[in-house]
Amino acid sequence: MIDRNKTILLTGATGMVGGVTRTLLEQSGFSRVLAPARQDLDLTDESAVYGYFARERPAYVLMVGARVGGIAANMQDPVGFTDVNLRMNLNLFSASHRYGTEKNLFLGSSCIYPIGHTGLIPESALLTGELEPTNEGYALSKIVGLKLARYYWQQHGLLTVCPMLSNVYGTGDHFDLGRAHVLSALVRRFVDARDNGAESVTLWGTGVARREFLHSEDAARAVLFFMDHIDQPDHINVGLGTDVTIRELADLIAQATGFLGEVRWDPSKPDGMLRKCLDTSKLQALGFTPRVTLGEGIRRTIAEYETIKRTGALKS
Ligand SMILES: NC(=O)c1ccc[n+]([C@@H]2O[C@H](COP(=O)([O-])OP(=O)(O)OC[C@H]3O[C@@H](n4cnc5c(N)ncnc54)[C@H](OP(=O)(O)O)[C@@H]3O)[C@@H](O)[C@H]2O)c1
Repeated sequence: MIDRNKTILLTGATGMVGGVTRTLLEQSGFSRVLAPARQDLDLTDESAVYGYFARERPAYVLMVGARVGGIAANMQDPVGFTDVNLRMNLNLFSASHRYGTEKNLFLGSSCIYPIGHTGLIPESALLTGELEPTNEGYALSKIVGLKLARYYWQQHGLLTVCPMLSNVYGTGDHFDLGRAHVLSALVRRFVDARDNGAESVTLWGTGVARREFLHSEDAARAVLFFMDHIDQPDHINVGLGTDVTIRELADLIAQATGFLGEVRWDPSKPDGMLRKCLDTSKLQALGFTPRVTLGEGIRRTIAEYETIKRTGALKS
């Protein structure tokens, strides 16, 4: 286990995974959790990152922050997604090396894997084929992060553990439609349609793409598990190991919200990768299993959105 009395730097704490991770760290007895917001520490600013490390001297660094977005946002700004994420990663790795951190975590994503897998995706699938074009730049920045983890380990002895998360949703997710991930976007669409008495909801694509969903609480538990129990830099998948089609997901959410109208599909919009379900046998053998089932996670997400809507805390 890592030392709860040493300083731990968590990036991205204003985001979904980072917010839940921050709560978990505090509940787990860490006495000094640093969680600067972007306006206090822009991770793309090299001199600001170096200055911060020189002042605060973190023993552990959790690289959770990233520029994250859905298909539309990634397609509109591939330069931004590639540039921001590469810079953040380069700055954090090099500052960690210069100021001698003891252990780091780099959070990856299942988008690092090539398209075309019909079975469960094992860790060994990395760099065996073409990436999904709609978020290629973001995926490439994550792959560079993984490679840097290995290079810094081999060349300088800096240990960075690398969980590869499947699609994350749940507590702390965004419901503003420009930023929401698919599950939360669907929750909003169906709750709003129910409340407005709409006759139908039209969704992007054909609904045949299959996706796996990991609750943000399980993502945060995985972050702590990797810091406490993993001691090598190879990436390891984190997910449920089971998936559903977007059509099945939409039906589950429609039912759970009580929406009684029709679900329509717009095939002129992209589906993204057809299947993306991780082989999680390696992590299970190491002793980690997610706890939140999809049904429970959907119910909780609906309740969270209804609360946000009721209290008027919703962005556009
Ligand atoms: N969501 C998923 O489905 C998923 C799946 C697999 C892996 N992941 C990984 O999980 C991590 C967190 O994702 P998330 O869904 O929680 O994203 P999120 O809610 O969008 O949070 C991203 C965080 O990064 C911060 N950030 C962005 N640019 C920054 C910068 N230049 N300097 C400092 N901070 C910056 C954001 O700050 P602002 O709020 O100020 O922008 C925010 O706190 C990412 O590494 C992502 O790749 C996510």
